[in-house]
Amino acid sequence: MPKRYRDIAGDGGSNIVGQVEAQQARLRARLAGVRAVVAVVSGKGGVGKSSMTASLASACALDGWAVGVLDADLNGPSMAKMLGVRGGKLVVRDGAVEPPRNALGVKVMSMDLLLPSDAAPLTWEAPTQDEAHTWRGTMEANALREFLADTAWGELDLLLLDLPPGTDRLLTIASLVPVLSGTVVVTIPSDVSQLVVRRSLTVARQARAPVLGLIENMAGLFPGPDAAGLAAEAGIPLLGRVPFDAELARCADSGEAFVATAPESPAARALRGIASTLRAAVTPTAAP
Ligand SMILES: Nc1ncnc2c1ncn2[C@@H]1O[C@H](COP(=O)(O)OP(=O)(O)OP(=O)(O)O)[C@@H](O)[C@H]1O
Ligand SMILES: [Mg+2]
Repeated sequence: MPKRYRDIAGDGGSNIVGQVEAQQARLRARLAGVRAVVAVVSGKGGVGKSSMTASLASACALDGWAVGVLDADLNGPSMAKMLGVRGGKLVVRDGAVEPPRNALGVKVMSMDLLLPSDAAPLTWEAPTQDEAHTWRGTMEANALREFLADTAWGELDLLLLDLPPGTDRLLTIASLVPVLSGTVVVTIPSDVSQLVVRRSLTVARQARAPVLGLIENMAGLFPGPDAAGLAAEAGIPLLGRVPFDAELARCADSGEAFVATAPESPAARALRGIASTLRAAVTPTAAP
């Protein structure tokens, strides 16, 4: 009989608590060489979190930073494709997976690299809908903890986390990562997006990590409200506005670095500006 969640508390044999603690310790050790961890979030799906993550990683790498990207979207992973590392061979050394590096040197870890591309999405079986919800959260947290604990990131200036849509995901990640340097929230100029993103901002503030700012993606594409209003209301900086650019979408699909392919386009300029603000925000200032 498979164990149910409620059986675990009384389970004397398998020492689940001990296992989780050991994994948490391994995770801390694995992230010891990572100077800053920033999560890219939005309650809203499809607003460009993954595209922004990929471009910010590329922009930072072009400026000489050692960058890694963890695709925390277990069911809809896209980072391996957008950053052009699909099909690479994974090397396991000392019990940890070495994340493949792309042409710019960005290290990428994604569920996509571990599963065949036509694999069914992860599902959590449970007798009732409510339990399924509990399981999803628990299993997702476990899978992410394992992911973080078993990846050899090495020395990184910045690790970006690409989160799946949804407001609750950030708290899961924040509870796993020993030090979350901050979050970046992505929105698009639409009432619906801003409504949902306003809620994500509330959650982001609960994550005990500073909200480094808001990115307005697809700026000018919709007639919706200005993101400057939302940023001001939340008391956070508007990091920049990235216009819609068909070349950005093409690059994402072909695994090319848009900021390197079309560096002088308004969208790439905006992204490079955001990346440099971000780097300044996570660089500790020398004590006076
Ligand atoms: N500024 C932009 N210009 C052109 N295309 C864009 C732009 N931003 C995002 N896209 C395109 O929009 C689509 C959705 O973007 P993306 O996958 O990054 O969103 P997401 O927020 O990560 O989605 P999900 O919620 O599913 O994780 C992609 O095809 C991407 O290439
Ligand atoms: Mg995404």
